Parts: sequence; structure tokens; C-alpha cells
Amino acid sequence: TAIPARQNVPRGMRGVVSLDDLEARARRHLPVPIFGYIAGQAESGAAYTGNRSAFEKYLFSPNVLRGTKDRDQSVGLFGRRYSRPFGIAPMGLSALAAYDGDIALANGAYDRDTVAILSATSLTPLERVAKEGPSHWFQAYFPGDHDRVRAMVERIAAAGFETLVVTVDVPVNGNREIDKRNRFVTPIEPTPKLFLQGATRPAWSFGTAFKTLMRHGMPRFANLDVGEGPPIVARNIERSFSGREAFAWEHLETARKHWKGNLVLKGVLRPDDAIRALDVGCDGLIVSSHGGRQLDSMIAPLDALPGIRAAVGPNVPVLIDSGLRRGTEVLKALALGADFAFVGRPFLYAAALAGRPGVTRAFDILSEEVDRNMAMIGLQSLSGIRDANGNSHFVLH
Ligand code: FNR
Repeated sequence: TAIPARQNVPRGMRGVVSLDDLEARARRHLPVPIFGYIAGQAESGAAYTGNRSAFEKYLFSPNVLRGTKDRDQSVGLFGRRYSRPFGIAPMGLSALAAYDGDIALANGAYDRDTVAILSATSLTPLERVAKEGPSHWFQAYFPGDHDRVRAMVERIAAAGFETLVVTVDVPVNGNREIDKRNRFVTPIEPTPKLFLQGATRPAWSFGTAFKTLMRHGMPRFANLDVGEGPPIVARNIERSFSGREAFAWEHLETARKHWKGNLVLKGVLRPDDAIRALDVGCDGLIVSSHGGRQLDSMIAPLDALPGIRAAVGPNVPVLIDSGLRRGTEVLKALALGADFAFVGRPFLYAAALAGRPGVTRAFDILSEEVDRNMAMIGLQSLSGIRDANGNSHFVLH
């Protein structure tokens, strides 16, 4: 995992040495309402801050003299081998921040032999991302309607996706006050303020907004349902989000019945829900607080992880996201019971700043941290991070 030399670093990523550096850069590059939407947190921000501070409670207790010369951070998941233990979480509206953002994220992950999950609220038709990505994980928001669930499952399968992630922590949208303050609410109003913002952010205006309008026309919600969704400026947009509140276990059973690939439930934080998901036939779970964007004041995914791992046993894939920014944090999540981690916001910032090469660069930065930390902990491969009982020698509680 040697990190490529400086001359290979895309312009927008020069001087970025950690994923935490990306937020400030993206803030300068993006219009205020779009940056606010990505950075946004629910209400007081407690869930968001808690995601991150949870990692500080766990510390490594490293082994020395293990001989860790040929380190390998690859992991197996759902019958595939991924070159590193992390990928990109699904993020809606990515194509507003970066030109062809969903495809840049998918290809950046492809370049580094890992995965980017395509979001239900993305603006690029899933069929296009499956072909041009290529992408094989899709995230859906389902309505509480068996027929619509079935039709959507068929569409996702026809496009060739292998893994379906069903997100269940958005029965209603989170209360992100920053979006209200910035008037970034759907339908998006093309206000004079937005145009003014564009004028002061020419790299975004020409490189993303203008190029998108010229090549693809007005962005639409392309993947919320079967058929072409409404443009983001449509007045009757609420209808396409309808029905999510009614989505319940019985509808998940319908999805399971018709979906032949891997089924993963995202947004699970309790052992009882984890067990129920397995009863319904889910193949894996993503322990997530939606990046602190939904319920304010809730348990951090890292703290929920050991209980969920204990409940489902050693063989069920348990994945995690929310607040991971460092190699040490990826390793702590793995030590505490995760098989794989997802990172959200920093990758979208990287895509906005430098497109596909920006995304691959962000992967290199985080992988280099994982690699360096494995050496210092005394780990040659990630299979040694937990023992058969799920206990880790590397973390002190
Ligand atoms: C998200 N997230 C998300 N999750 C999901 O299942 N479907 C979606 O459409 C979206 N959309 C979305 C947009 C944006 C801008 C962000 C930042 C996040 C949540 C995402 O998948 C993931 O759970 C968090 O982003 C992880 O937290 P971090 O890494 O961003 O802190």
C-alpha cells in the first residue's frame, strides 16, 4: 500500500494528508447549501459528535516483535475479496456536489478493488452506474407497499447488482437545521442566493453544475422507485418519497422473497433487531447512525457493535459506518466486531474536489494509515484482529 508519489496526486487533493483535511477544502469549493447538506447533522449534533468521540474510549494495546513485513489488509465479504476493509457509504445527491458524482465514487472504489454503495436518492439511473461504475451494491429506501417493493427489487436485479442494502433508519427525514437555514429543501428552489453562490464558486459552477445541465439536463431522483423519478425542482416531489413510514418487517420479507442476492439491513443498532433481521433472512447488517443525520442523541454505532456481534455470532457479516476517518478507527471497529467499514462524507468531498482520481487518492490515504497502524499493533493480516470468541487483544475498554 505504498502511497503514490506527489506528482500523481490530483490537483484538488494536493496538500490533503488525512481525510479530516477534506472538509475545509470542500467548504471553499462548494456552494454553501450543498456543502451544508453533506456536512449536515441532526438537531443538536450530539449523534454526529458521539459517533466520533466513541472511538476515543478504546485504545490499542499493541504487540511487538511479531514480524509484520508482508502486511495484508484485504478482507473477504460475500464471496468477494476486497483489497481493504472499507468502502464508500451510500450518499444521495452526490451528482450535485461532483460531476457524475455517483460514477466517480463507483469508479474510485473500483480502481482500488473495493466497493461504493449506490444511494436510492442518487441522481444517476442505477442502470448507468452499474455499467459505467461498475457498481455491484445498491441501497434502497422501500415504501410500505409489497408491489412497489417487488417491482423495485426486480429493477435492481435486472441491472446486475449483487448486494442490496435496505436502509431502515429513515422512516422520516432527519431534522437537519442547516438545510432549513440554507433553504436547501426539496423541491430545490433556484433562488438568487444559489446563483450568487455559484458565481463565487466558478470551479463548481462550470465543472459540475453547468456540465451536468448541458450533458444530462435537470437532475432527477432516478432510483427511488421504478421508472424515472421527478426532477429535483419538481413541486410534487414529496409523493416520490411517500410510504417510507409504513415500511415494516413484512415488507422486508417481500424484498427477501424476490431478491436472490445478498440482503443487508442498514441502520440496525440493537441486538433484538439484528436477530429479527436474520430471522427474515438478511445476510448481513450495517450498524449505523446514518452519520448522525437522523435521530439526535443516540448510541454510537461503535458502542452498539459488540452487543450486536455477540447476538449474531461470529459468522454473520456485520458492517459499520458513521464517523470513521482514521486507520486506527477502522481497526478499532474491526477489533470490536465489524468485518468491514464504510466511510461517507470524506469520499464525497474528495469526489467534489477531484473526481474519480480524488476518490482513489482518499482510499490511498486511509489504506496507508491502516497499513502503518497494523505494523505498529503487530498485525500481519486482519484475520488476527479478533479471536474465535470475538475478543480482541488489541483494545482496552
Ligand atoms: C448519507 N447517508 C445515506 N444513507 C443511506 O442509506 N442512503 C442515502 O441516500 C444517504 N444519503 C446520504 C447523503 C449524505 C450527503 C451523507 C453525508 C450521508 C448516510 C451514509 O450512508 C452513512 O451512513 C454516513 O454518511 C456515515 O457517516 P460518515 O462517514 O459520513 O460520518
